[in-house]
Amino acid sequence: MRRKTLYHTVTQQLRYQILSGEWPIGSKLPPERRLAEEWGVSRNTIVHAYADLEAEGLIFSKVGSGRYVQPLPPPSALQPLDWKDQLHGGANLTLPCLMTELHSLVGARSAINFAFGEGGNHTCLKSEFAKGIDPQKILETSEADYLFPVQGHLELRQWITEWMGCQQITSPSQVMITSGSQEALQMTTAILAQPGDSIAVEMPTYFGALHLFQSLGLHLIPIPVDQEGMRVDVLEGILSRSRPRFIYTVPTFHNPTGTTLSEARRSQLLALSDKHGIPIVEDDAYRHLHFDQEPPPPLKALDRGGNVIYINTFSKVLFPGLRLGFVAANRPFMERLMRYKELSISTNTFVQHALWSYLQKGSFEAHLDRARKVYQRQATVMEKHLRNLLPKGISYAMPTGGFYFWVSLPEQVSPQELLGRAIMQNVVFATGDMFLSRQTEQPYIRLCYSHETESGIEKGMQILSSLL
Ligand SMILES: Cc1ncc(COP(=O)(O)O)c(C=O)c1O
Repeated sequence: MRRKTLYHTVTQQLRYQILSGEWPIGSKLPPERRLAEEWGVSRNTIVHAYADLEAEGLIFSKVGSGRYVQPLPPPSALQPLDWKDQLHGGANLTLPCLMTELHSLVGARSAINFAFGEGGNHTCLKSEFAKGIDPQKILETSEADYLFPVQGHLELRQWITEWMGCQQITSPSQVMITSGSQEALQMTTAILAQPGDSIAVEMPTYFGALHLFQSLGLHLIPIPVDQEGMRVDVLEGILSRSRPRFIYTVPTFHNPTGTTLSEARRSQLLALSDKHGIPIVEDDAYRHLHFDQEPPPPLKALDRGGNVIYINTFSKVLFPGLRLGFVAANRPFMERLMRYKELSISTNTFVQHALWSYLQKGSFEAHLDRARKVYQRQATVMEKHLRNLLPKGISYAMPTGGFYFWVSLPEQVSPQELLGRAIMQNVVFATGDMFLSRQTEQPYIRLCYSHETESGIEKGMQILSSLL
């Protein structure tokens, strides 16, 4: 037993010396007898250890010359590599990122911005987010909390369960904080689907999701949207013929169309998901930005089969630079998500502490109330101009929350061409093709009313109206 232990130790020691480069590749190893004397072990022990290392392919012997550390293959056998070529493997990162394109369109700070789906400075600054936050105190706590649970700040997760207010999500263990809802969507997608798989997606849909799905090599099955939200009847037909890995939906104040899935369709969608065993990824970014009336409950709140993976974000109710979103789901999914999130080791503790301090001050609800009213007023100002354009052949529906008007242009007006002329006059917006999986001629533009102040909207809409 003792001999066996010693032999293992010697083998391990030799292996370490080779693998750590102490005995470099190609170098000659000491003869057995000399090494045995140096290490104070029997020659036999060294013979056995060398034999094992030879069997492992770490060393080789040359007759009459001794043993050597296995050299690398001769240079001629290796093809020269161009590491830059290898960058094209894995996810398809060559697709144009429309977010970057939008940013470059807006370019100069002075552009009137109907393109960005975000709250706008005038609303965010009034949130008083930074007031009363003590960065030094947060720094001390964040430093101590570097190894926070990978799911994120415990009290913040508890707060989220209360904010969600549904019986399906009651414990912080069912919630994970993520870097914006985009990370939540990216991790969820990577867990549920592999390149080449199909997923069912509302079309048009949020371009950040489109870009992600396409970059990951997923095949998109488009499900049309009408004034009641996703056409669940079309989805039903699809599910009788195919098995997408999941259904991605923005059921409340949809981006870009602004529509909300009716209660009847919510039940039908959940029933289909239960029947076919297909999970729903519910992206609920705009839920809290309703006007006078609250929207129907989230799919997650009606989810009896545990099939809904719920994603939301603080980007729209506060500001996108926070990069704070979350996933709420049942525990088996959360287990997988934690393993996935661990690949980036930890979570952003500083900003989670900052958000938690802010929420504790109790001004968030007041901010949200104010923001809803501001956006509703801004939507009304934009709508006044759109109404005046009805005789020119445009059409749209008045949103009941969220950030967007989805406007159909008269037949003779091309969205791209209109955008080109608008940019010349310093107004930007998104064209409808950005929200489709294929570049095609289509009549829509998306006008976002959240970013500009009322006077900015007046000015921008006057310019747009003059171009139509
Ligand atoms: C439906 C939807 N989901 C997610 C996002 C992005 O959210 P985040 O900034 O949290 O990544 C957006 C932003 O436009 C969105 O419209």
